[in-house]
Amino acid sequence: MSAEDRALSAQEEIEVLRRQLLEAQKLTAIGELLGTTTHEFNNVLMTILNYARLGIRHKDEPTRDKAFEKILAASQRAAKITSSVLGMARNRSDSLEPTDVAAIIEETLVLLEREMMKYRISIEKQIGEVPPALACGNQIQQVLLNLLINARQAMLQGGRLLIKLEHDTSANTVDLVVRDSGTGIPPEKLRKIFDPFFTTKPGPDESGRGGTGLGLSACKSIIEAHRGRIRVESTVGKGTAFTIKLPVATKDSPKEISAPTTIPAISTSVATTTGEQSASS
Ligand SMILES: Nc1ncnc2c1ncn2[C@@H]1O[C@H](COP(=O)(O)OP(=O)(O)OP(=O)(O)O)[C@@H](O)[C@H]1O
Ligand SMILES: [Mg+2]
Repeated sequence: MSAEDRALSAQEEIEVLRRQLLEAQKLTAIGELLGTTTHEFNNVLMTILNYARLGIRHKDEPTRDKAFEKILAASQRAAKITSSVLGMARNRSDSLEPTDVAAIIEETLVLLEREMMKYRISIEKQIGEVPPALACGNQIQQVLLNLLINARQAMLQGGRLLIKLEHDTSANTVDLVVRDSGTGIPPEKLRKIFDPFFTTKPGPDESGRGGTGLGLSACKSIIEAHRGRIRVESTVGKGTAFTIKLPVATKDSPKEISAPTTIPAISTSVATTTGEQSASS
């Protein structure tokens, strides 16, 4: 085997390992989503059960009315939860299609809003009018879940979460910003956060999340395969903001690109993706 052949097969092997890494993070994300969904659904079911029992026990009209109202509200929430899971199934193919990012935000928040409440995190949404992005909905939801869970884990004493969606008309991109008021990231760590296996978490937290260090490296691979950008700004003690820029779907956009076909090289240097740390950090 020539040196050139050997180099090629090593390169191929790295490529295979990168794909496997991305696949592993995808499975973790699906597992987390399934856990959250089941948990949320169970909560709703408990509410329905308890109010149905109350309605049967108490024959008076006001109590029964109240029970029916609670059952109705809980059932509506249950329907939202299932439709958010079905929403993921809608764009199951790994192809890039015109995608409504605002709908993905809503579907993801339905699953996480109770968890955020439990950790005393308030959620502010600034959702502007944006055109469809050229994206794979499932993968964007995976990215958003990773960012939201990271944000939640950075705000152990509670805090504020801002989710912003806007159209950058000059770059013609759909921009998604996830900003938290958490711990922030010191500069020496900031340049490593997109590296696979870089983590500062000792292991899964009480909600069973976190600690492999694959979340952000998967986000970066996914966004780069979308020909988008991911950027971070952070100030220690103030918080962190991730910005994702996705290309707008246009008439001429290629319809059937599989995403991500090749997983971009893992950068260890301070790339543009890890840049822009705040001066005051
Ligand atoms: N919003 C944030 N605020 C503060 N630190 C963050 C934030 N997001 C990421 N980090 C830092 O970047 C590291 C890497 O994040 P990443 O999501 O890749 O892995 P992880 O959360 O540790 O584990 P997992 O693979 O389960 O997501 C985290 O361990 C944390 O130190
Ligand atoms: Mg993470």
